[in-house]
Amino acid sequence: MPDKNALLNFLNLAADYLKTGHLAEGPLVEEQGLPLAYLIEEDENPEKGEDSLQAIAEEVADCRACPLCETRTLAVPGEGPERPLVMVIGEGPGADEDKAGRPFVGKAGQLLDRMLQSITLSREKNCFIANMVKCRPPGNRDPAQGEIEACFPFLRRQILLLKPMLILCAGRVSARSLLNTEQGINALRGQFIDLKIADSETGEEITIPVLPSYHPSALLRDESLKRPAWEDLKMLKSRLISLESLSLIEE
Ligand code: URA
Repeated sequence: MPDKNALLNFLNLAADYLKTGHLAEGPLVEEQGLPLAYLIEEDENPEKGEDSLQAIAEEVADCRACPLCETRTLAVPGEGPERPLVMVIGEGPGADEDKAGRPFVGKAGQLLDRMLQSITLSREKNCFIANMVKCRPPGNRDPAQGEIEACFPFLRRQILLLKPMLILCAGRVSARSLLNTEQGINALRGQFIDLKIADSETGEEITIPVLPSYHPSALLRDESLKRPAWEDLKMLKSRLISLESLSLIEE
C-alpha cells in the first residue's frame, strides 16, 4: 500500500461496495491524484506466483461477478501470444464475439486485424487482444462502471503477465477506464500516457505507455477518423521501434 491516502481510498471503496454491491463510480481516484493501479490492490490473485493466461481464461469462463454473466453466450477472455509487443484493449465483446468466445472477430475486428497488419502486428505473432469487460453488454451498450470494475482484476492480471511494451486502447471506453479519466477520446488520442500498475508478486510497479485511439467501429461509421487513426498507428510503430532498439542495446 503506497500511502495513507491510498488506504483511505480503498476503505471508502470497500464501504461503497458493501453498501451497494458496486464499486463507486466517478473520478474518486483521479481527484486524489492516485493511479488506478493502487486501488486494485494485491490479493486478487490468490495463487501468487502461479498465475497464467490459461488460469485467467478458465476463471473468466465461470465468472459470475456481474450481471453480464446472465446474458452472455460465451465469455471472451482475450487471445494472443504470451510475450506480445503490444496489447490491444477494446471495450467488450459484441454479438459475433459472444458467439465465438474470441475478441474482435466481427467487422470491426477484421478492420482491426488489417490496421495491425499494416504495422506488422498480428494476434498470431506479437499482439494480445483483450477487452475491458469479458462478457457482452446486451444490445452492445457501453459496459457500466460496476461491470468494468468487477472485470478489471482479470485484465490487471493479464497485463501483469503479458507485460506488453505498449498498450493500444481501442476507443473511448477502454481509454477512459484504464487511464481513469473523464476526458473524451478526441482529447486523449494521439499521445502516450503512462499506466502504472503494481505487480502483486514482486510488489514492483511497472509502467506501460498507453496510446488511446479510435475504436475500429467508429472508423467504420466515420471515414474522416481514418487519417488520425493512421497517425496513431504510425506513432505506435515508431515507439515500438525505439523501445525494441533500446532493449537490444540493454541486452
Ligand atoms: N468491440 C470491442 O470493443 N471488442 C470486441 O471484442 C469486439 C468489438
